[in-house]
Amino acid sequence: MKEPSELSGVDVDRPNAARMYDYYLGGSANFEVDRVAAEAGKAAMPDAVTYARSNRAFLGRAVRYLCSVGVDQFLDLGSGIPTVGNVHEIAQEANPRARVAYVDIEPVAVAHGRRLLAGVDGVTTTQADIRDPASVLSAPGVADLLDFDRPVAVLAVAILPFVTDDAEAAALVAAYRQACVPGSYLVISHIAQLAASREQVAEAEQVMARTPTPVVWRSADRIAPLFNGYALVPPGLLPAPQWRPDGPVEAEHIARANAYAGVGLLR
Ligand SMILES: C[S@@+](CC[C@H](N)C(=O)[O-])C[C@H]1O[C@@H](n2cnc3c(N)ncnc32)[C@H](O)[C@@H]1O
Repeated sequence: MKEPSELSGVDVDRPNAARMYDYYLGGSANFEVDRVAAEAGKAAMPDAVTYARSNRAFLGRAVRYLCSVGVDQFLDLGSGIPTVGNVHEIAQEANPRARVAYVDIEPVAVAHGRRLLAGVDGVTTTQADIRDPASVLSAPGVADLLDFDRPVAVLAVAILPFVTDDAEAAALVAAYRQACVPGSYLVISHIAQLAASREQVAEAEQVMARTPTPVVWRSADRIAPLFNGYALVPPGLLPAPQWRPDGPVEAEHIARANAYAGVGLLR
């Protein structure tokens, strides 16, 4: 990774969610300031790494499921820094013609994405704020790649916690839904209090409040309405490790993941 002074447009004075998440996943695209904040996050919530890895594992299972039902276009909102098990790798293994539009606001995530994807067909990386759906949907990396007259899977995986107002989150999801035709899908994974105590949640929210992207934890009751307009595919909205697991899952792991996840079909 380049030294901070070599990267333009990168805020290296404040910790950043994409780089902290990368640190939790064992990546190297993070700076000292991110590692310090990530360790503070771990002190507040010791299960932070379990959360990040369970979330990423859910993303992989969801993409494989979508490929199995014939989806070949993905809009990955808040895609993060490319690491192990990226959406295009999973999707193109199932279908080499699958298309993936990555969108993230963070310059390091976008720079890494572009470097990794140079020469890969059917994949783009766009730097944009997902809270501005019109700009995202009209960006060349999205509009020129994805055909919205055919089904598209919108991936909102570990991104809606950054939209802290419930009404704004619902309006945002609705805006992307309106761009999609029936047969499209919405994938959500969202941080939620399971094993974590109330104090841990409050402290973890405080750590993120010091970054440019504060987060909110939501209960399943507050996550479910985000699927309005979609029919949840079985097994529904439930703790992330329990969504179509590849094998048996221990109860302790389910709770320590501290996340709910689901996939909705637009009818
Ligand atoms: C926790 S990571 C999740 C990465 C990936 N979706 C996953 O689940 O593995 C959240 C990502 O959302 C990005 N992000 C946060 N707010 C955003 C916004 N308003 N627009 C675009 N990206 C955003 C962050 O930069 C970060 O890369």
